[in-house]
Amino acid sequence: MIINGIAKGFTLKFRVILTLGIFILLFFASPPTHSQTADDEKNFQQCKACHTIGGGKLVGPDLKGVNDKREESWLIKFIQNSQALIQSGDKAAIEVFEAHFKIPMPPHNLTDDQVRGILAYIRNDGKIAGAEATVTESPATGSTAEELSIAEENNKLLAEKKSDERRNMRSTFIIMLVLLVISVADLVITKMVKAKWIHIVIILVSVAVIGELIFVEAVALGRQQYYQPDQPIAFSHKIHSGQNKIDCQYCHYTAAESMHAGIPPVTLCMNCHAQVKSGKKTGTVEIAKIYAAIENNKPVEWVKVHNLPDHVYFNHAQHVNVGKIDCQKCHGEVQKMDQIIQVEDLSMGWCIECHRTQTVQFANNKFYDQYTKLHKKLEDGEITAVTVKDIGGDECQKCHY
Ligand code: HEC
Ligand code: HEC
Ligand code: HEC
Ligand code: HEC
Ligand code: HEC
Ligand code: HEC
Repeated sequence: MIINGIAKGFTLKFRVILTLGIFILLFFASPPTHSQTADDEKNFQQCKACHTIGGGKLVGPDLKGVNDKREESWLIKFIQNSQALIQSGDKAAIEVFEAHFKIPMPPHNLTDDQVRGILAYIRNDGKIAGAEATVTESPATGSTAEELSIAEENNKLLAEKKSDERRNMRSTFIIMLVLLVISVADLVITKMVKAKWIHIVIILVSVAVIGELIFVEAVALGRQQYYQPDQPIAFSHKIHSGQNKIDCQYCHYTAAESMHAGIPPVTLCMNCHAQVKSGKKTGTVEIAKIYAAIENNKPVEWVKVHNLPDHVYFNHAQHVNVGKIDCQKCHGEVQKMDQIIQVEDLSMGWCIECHRTQTVQFANNKFYDQYTKLHKKLEDGEITAVTVKDIGGDECQKCHY
């Protein structure tokens, strides 16, 4: 029995050592590799505004050779959230931060694997390894360029369609008005047409149509769908968010916490434009306006595009943070716009329509804990999803002061 027990204990220990040994062997024999994909290149796009690979310093350091300088685990932490690492007191992180005039590198919503992909892409000097990847790469970039130009076309078409509609409405209005005047005049003065019912029909129809047109215009008065004003600086979202993949909330940093998304101050532009002094499209002309604003200590007077009437309450944090609605759902494909255009009419019907159909992420969200009845109904299978309307999203006082 005893001998048996010792033998058992021994084999157990042996097995543990063996597996550990194999594990360690595997770990060292094959350093973690990452197969390269076109996604890695795409993910690196969001770093390009501030980093080059072997092209010298931009806002941040040249990343060539960074894999040899730093541990992978450090790089993953730093790239995901550099400020968190700096605040935790990491010496190396504080050093680079201070060496770069304390310009914070924005956090990136990337998984560990996505960062490993970017690091491999950097190790490869900004090329995708393997023929397969290269083949898939070029058509992909081609098609995004195509998509972008199609989107531009669509924006133009949208604006054209709107102006056509306007023109049609105006001519209908004039035709109806002329008909009305003629038939009234004939009825009262000239009396060329004997059958009075013809006058009556024409008068009734034209009055109805004119009334309808006036009503539609009056309701839309103050609304400005497709409004696209020129801005004091030709700032392009397509260049910043589309091509350079700068996160919306890097600039509109109050969107997740406050009522207003806000327009960034010029000092934020300087995070990059202290270094980026000219652009491909407008050269130095437009960027010089940023420097002028800083020098004269005068804020840029951006023209506000989206405007709700004063009696309506709208809160960004509620939609972006709690409701988890993408900016694009309400503002259109901003990352493809050279110039911002208001794509939705911001009418009451638009708000309500979404509130009736949009489900909220009810489970595991503290914000909704107060709705005990709805939680119970969900558990009992009485309902399968909760819409914004169910939590009071169509009550007048929620949106009106
Ligand atoms: C808005 C500009 C900006 C963007 C975008 C940006 N960085 Fe940075 N990065 C910096 C700055 C500035 C530093 C210097 C450290 C600091 O100030 O925190 C830095 C530092 C680094 C470092 C440390 C380098 C070293 O020598 O230790 C790495 C690695 C890095 N960035 C990788 C990335 C990657 C990968 C991306 C894209 C996913 C990216 N960065 C996007 C500005 C940026
Ligand atoms: C549910 C719809 C909705 C979503 C989602 C949304 N917005 Fe808005 N946004 C609006 C409306 C409506 C206005 C007009 C507000 C007003 O006039 O009071 C507006 C106004 C703005 C403005 C003008 C300045 C201001 O704060 O009034 C900016 C900038 C903006 N949004 C950016 C964003 C960004 C960036 C996101 C994503 C992080 C976003 N929005 C998400 C509906 C939305
Ligand atoms: C995170 C970095 C970053 C920030 C922040 C930033 N830009 Fe830029 N911007 C760039 C880069 C990179 C380019 C160059 C694009 C190119 O290749 O032409 C650029 C180009 C431009 C251009 C010239 C476009 C052209 O092609 O002619 C203007 C104008 C401009 N930015 C204005 C602004 C303004 C205004 C702000 C602040 C609201 C701002 N930028 C903030 C990175 C940034
Ligand atoms: C580099 C900084 C920067 C980034 C990144 C950025 N924006 Fe903006 N945004 C601005 C500036 C500056 C303005 C004011 C000038 C204009 O209207 O073009 C603005 C204006 C807007 C407006 C119009 C506000 C109004 O007056 O009603 C909306 C909507 C908007 N941004 C949404 C977005 C969305 C969505 C994204 C991400 C896809 C984004 N922005 C990314 C700087 C930025
Ligand atoms: C694309 C969909 C969408 C659009 C468009 C939209 N909302 Fe919402 N809204 C939501 C979602 C999702 C929530 C739920 C978030 C929450 O639980 O607070 C919400 C919640 C709200 C709330 C809080 C309701 C409550 O019961 O606490 C108000 C107020 C509100 N929205 C106002 C507006 C106004 C005003 C507009 C139009 C200018 C608008 N919303 C347009 C999706 C939308
Ligand atoms: C989800 C948000 C929301 C809710 C709920 C809501 N409204 Fe509105 N309401 C709006 C918005 C946005 C406008 C501005 C529309 C515009 O500018 O055309 C508006 C405009 C109005 C107007 C001005 C007339 C007009 O069309 O411009 C009246 C009156 C009004 N609402 C009454 C009500 C009443 C009564 C209720 C309750 C039954 C209600 N609203 C519920 C968002 C809401």
